[in-house]
Amino acid sequence: MTQNNQSFWDRLIKKLTRSTPVERESEIKLDHNFDGIEELNNPLPPWWSAGFIITVVISVIYISFYFMYFYEPENNAKWQETEYQREVAAAQKALAEYKKKHHIVDAESVTLLKDKNALAEGKAIYQKNCQACHAPDGGGGVGPNLTDDNWLYGCDIKSLFKVIHDGTSKGMPTWKNLGNDKIQKVASYILVELHGKKPANPKPAEGEACQVQ
Ligand code: HEC
Repeated sequence: MTQNNQSFWDRLIKKLTRSTPVERESEIKLDHNFDGIEELNNPLPPWWSAGFIITVVISVIYISFYFMYFYEPENNAKWQETEYQREVAAAQKALAEYKKKHHIVDAESVTLLKDKNALAEGKAIYQKNCQACHAPDGGGGVGPNLTDDNWLYGCDIKSLFKVIHDGTSKGMPTWKNLGNDKIQKVASYILVELHGKKPANPKPAEGEACQVQ
């Protein structure tokens, strides 16, 4: 078979795997000899060198584009940063949807409950766990008055959820063992039913004025 009849691929492979046959090693022997140890001028196979050069070139392009230059002017930030932000935002959205779908309540997603059953349950939880310190009618005792318009930690459902869940360093114990659902119910009971009542022995107002919605 002559050279010309070889296919393009055969010729390419031959070029890329070019090497010196063992019989011709004497031709590429370098001119030094250390106590009988000799060295051949045997370059790496072309396919290997080409692969190495390609990876170096790609790495320079990749690093400069991805980490240094690729810039989104509309976001005034690098690609990597905006990509991170986009992914976090998408994950947060998915998480919020998941919580909504599965009715998972937490300090972020908690909403005020107004239906009778939930409030009745909230009342039972209050009577069992809270009235010792906040009085059965919410007028206050060891703990502050929950019926007036002054609040130490805010008067929206999220603030109440947080105080009841975490407790405070000044005498309000944490109630996280109740579970988020029950905390939501008792907090709703306080805001919807207790708040605005006229207790028998109201404790003087503490904290900031806050309009319960
Ligand atoms: C051992 C007594 C005690 C018990 C029991 C207790 N609390 Fe409290 N609570 C307090 C005290 C004291 C404070 C004020 C904390 C502070 O000043 O940091 C407080 C504060 C609060 C506040 C914040 C009021 C505001 O002005 O912002 C809420 C809401 C509250 N408690 C709800 C509850 C609920 C609901 C329960 C039952 C699940 C409960 N507490 C049980 C003592 C208690």
